[in-house]
Amino acid sequence: MEKLKIAGGYPLKGTVRISGAKNSAVALIPATILADSPVTIEGLPDISDVQILKALLEEIGGKVEFANNEMTVDPSSMISMPLPNGKVKKLRASYYLMGAMLGRFNKAVIGLPGGCYLGPRPIDQHIKGFEALGAKVTNEQGAIYLRADELKGARIYLDVVSVGATINIMLAAVRAKGRTIIENAAKEPEIIDVATLLTNMGAKIKGAGTDVIRIDGVDRLHGCRHTIIPDRIEAGTYLILGAAVGEGILIDNVIPNHLESLIAKLREMGVQIESGDDQVFVAPAEKLKAVDIKTLVYPGFPTDLQQPFTSLLTKAEGTSVVTDTIYSARFKHIDELRRMNANIKVEGRSAIVNGPVRLQGAKVKASDLRAGAALVIAGLMAEGITEITGIEHIDRGYSHLVEKLNGLGATVWREDLSQEEKEQMENA
Ligand code: EPU
Repeated sequence: MEKLKIAGGYPLKGTVRISGAKNSAVALIPATILADSPVTIEGLPDISDVQILKALLEEIGGKVEFANNEMTVDPSSMISMPLPNGKVKKLRASYYLMGAMLGRFNKAVIGLPGGCYLGPRPIDQHIKGFEALGAKVTNEQGAIYLRADELKGARIYLDVVSVGATINIMLAAVRAKGRTIIENAAKEPEIIDVATLLTNMGAKIKGAGTDVIRIDGVDRLHGCRHTIIPDRIEAGTYLILGAAVGEGILIDNVIPNHLESLIAKLREMGVQIESGDDQVFVAPAEKLKAVDIKTLVYPGFPTDLQQPFTSLLTKAEGTSVVTDTIYSARFKHIDELRRMNANIKVEGRSAIVNGPVRLQGAKVKASDLRAGAALVIAGLMAEGITEITGIEHIDRGYSHLVEKLNGLGATVWREDLSQEEKEQMENA
């Protein structure tokens, strides 16, 4: 087990290249199960979630090669092996194995997913979709059992706009008999990416990226080659970092349209940003104004950037209010930021940030992935040394973080945890 150490307070400058999107990758990899010949995905990020999914596909008999960010999955010899325990519990997105295995084998047994604790994260809408397609779904001792004689297309209205449910229902429906219509579907770019892969595999999908998706089931799906979209949340994290401690940072391999809400908010704070085709430049920011943000489904302000953005707001003049309408408890980073001298209080679903303050280095703990990103930004802003434990959360989603930050001129390194720290982590 390791911790991250950051010598803060130095300005960063230069170019950072964004990796493939984590939240696409974790759906694209399970989607390969639906094909009958090899599928290659280019541009995957080097993150632990990708490694875990690779191991899970191998567990069910897939042949997987992964090198230079390119994964080839030969799904032809996969079997419908139950996965009630073990690695499935390590990541939230293992729920995509439900839709993909149900779609291919008409049955699946998958342990209830783990991942970041952000408050209650039910999967009732996924299950509603599977049942509408004809599956019998039961929950037995912490694992979901799905079984269908045959999957049949259906009209499914999502009561909650859900990225995971939208993708999972697409996965289960692409080989079902007849037409499926998903109404009130989520519109995130990752959904379009998964639909593009499935279409390249031979699926018939219309409307991905809108709130009504129509899927006409096909008998078989074949192999193909697909390039993943860049990670808008990783790009957004570097944009925020650029506004916080940058002396001119160019973010390369990004789709600026995917970040419109963040860019608009940064401009409102007084940050100068120039967008190109696949690059965004953040100019050094002088004085930052306080702003309010409210997280919403895409194209609103992403909940995944709420935590990193809060670190930036500690530097802004005035009072900012951050409201998370997607996850009620995504505020675990706040106590840690307070240890670093931030003036923030949480009231219900909102964090109220008073600034500007000069953050001070401290020993802090990342409780989840984006809380970790928030603490990294805070550590770079702070005076002195910041030590972050719980970095396995950060490694789930940020590819080559230390190398990328040091490439911009930061002083960031990993160190093994001391025996005492290991015991503290184990007892936490
Ligand atoms: N919800 C339900 N029932 C469901 C599904 C969702 O009530 O069946 C609720 C959730 O509790 C939440 C809201 O609907 O309040 C939205 O959840 P959604 O299903 O869209 O989230 P998700 O698919 O589980 C993905 C990302 C998250 C990101 C959210 C929202 C992946 C693997 N995860 O989660 O990413 O925060 O969408 O955009 O794609 C992260 O990257 O750090 C992360 C947590």
